[in-house]
Amino acid sequence: MAFSSSTPAGYFSCFNASKEISSPLFKPPKLPLFWPWEKVKLGPMSVSPMGFGTWAWGNQFLWGYQESMDSQLQQTFNLAVENGINLFDTADSYGTGRLNGKSEKLLGKFITEIQGQKRVQDEIVIATKFAAYPWRLTPSQFVKACMASLDRLQMEQIGIGQLHWSTANYAPPQELALWDGLVAMYEKGLVRAVGVSNYGPSQLVKIHDYLKARGVPLSSAQVQFSLLSMGEKQVEIKNICDTLGIRLISYSPLGLGMLTGKYTPSKLPRGPRGLLFRQILPGLEPLLISLKEVAQKRRKTIPQVAINWCICKGTIPIPGVKSVKQAKENLGALGWRLSSDELLQLEYAAGESPQKMIQNIFQTR
Ligand SMILES: NC(=O)c1ccc[n+]([C@@H]2O[C@H](COP(=O)([O-])OP(=O)(O)OC[C@H]3O[C@@H](n4cnc5c(N)ncnc54)[C@H](OP(=O)(O)O)[C@@H]3O)[C@@H](O)[C@H]2O)c1
Repeated sequence: MAFSSSTPAGYFSCFNASKEISSPLFKPPKLPLFWPWEKVKLGPMSVSPMGFGTWAWGNQFLWGYQESMDSQLQQTFNLAVENGINLFDTADSYGTGRLNGKSEKLLGKFITEIQGQKRVQDEIVIATKFAAYPWRLTPSQFVKACMASLDRLQMEQIGIGQLHWSTANYAPPQELALWDGLVAMYEKGLVRAVGVSNYGPSQLVKIHDYLKARGVPLSSAQVQFSLLSMGEKQVEIKNICDTLGIRLISYSPLGLGMLTGKYTPSKLPRGPRGLLFRQILPGLEPLLISLKEVAQKRRKTIPQVAINWCICKGTIPIPGVKSVKQAKENLGALGWRLSSDELLQLEYAAGESPQKMIQNIFQTR
């Protein structure tokens, strides 16, 4: 990534109302949050240095989604696109119960409703994930799954087709069907690039080599990666990605919301997240204090610092967003960089915090 470390902090301050000059004669030009050359190469595509995640779009159980949120989500999507964000992560399993597939459907609707902007629509990269359901046992079933996603997304080709998880831990014979499924969808031109998610170091190398032998480049690997999830495994995966030319996409960069500073042991979100946060948040004080210190010093917010850390580690974060307000704030993670001292301070504080995020049960070795 060609981000200049000399970019002055606050240079792109279009979301910092306090810095705007109010003279009616002088309207400062709205500068982009990043320049075209700062886009990140991902397979044959160029994507913004940060994408947005859409797990919450359709998920009632964990994220409290309601259909009345749709117009807010559409505005959130539009704001992101207007500000140059062109990577959106989703999955065919996102959306609970009867809302299964809702996240893809909403994205499809929002993309088609971008008014008269074919060029913008063409630049959007959807990264969707195919669930390794136990009944998807053959490559053609994955191709079918891909076609169903294309249908929900109202697209002819998906940007990145990713395997949502590996079955190596519990159903190794199914794994080959997943891999051949990716090959088939790539060869049929249904996806521009392929990627994986929740693959650990050893499984990542195996699938990379397998796909390479079949003439299919592995373009991305998505793992939980944040100041709450930066163990040896994450470092090893990042090193493998760098060696093999794979982009690392960091999911849950805000620790499901714990790295925003808005939750405390006495102010927890409703539902299952509350149960998880109750165990982790009491041990997060050193990290949250350090995030706050850095944020205040840089005149940024805690989520902006947490997301910027992921960018500085050479990954593409995909924070989840549920509202225009959150999207606006998270866009402020772009256009500046933490210094190496600040990175060290945050990592030291993360190390001092006794609690870490639990890892995805599907994460392999
Ligand atoms: N491959 C996988 O297995 C996998 C697993 C998990 C996630 N993902 C992907 O990664 C994306 C991001 O991860 P995530 O959604 O799990 O967690 P996250 O990005 O760590 O946290 C997102 C949540 O934090 C809160 N939030 C976001 N910005 C905020 C702000 N500026 N101020 C205050 N609160 C804010 C929102 O929830 P509240 O407002 O409700 O607090 C939001 O839904 C997902 O949407 C999904 O696309 C992939």
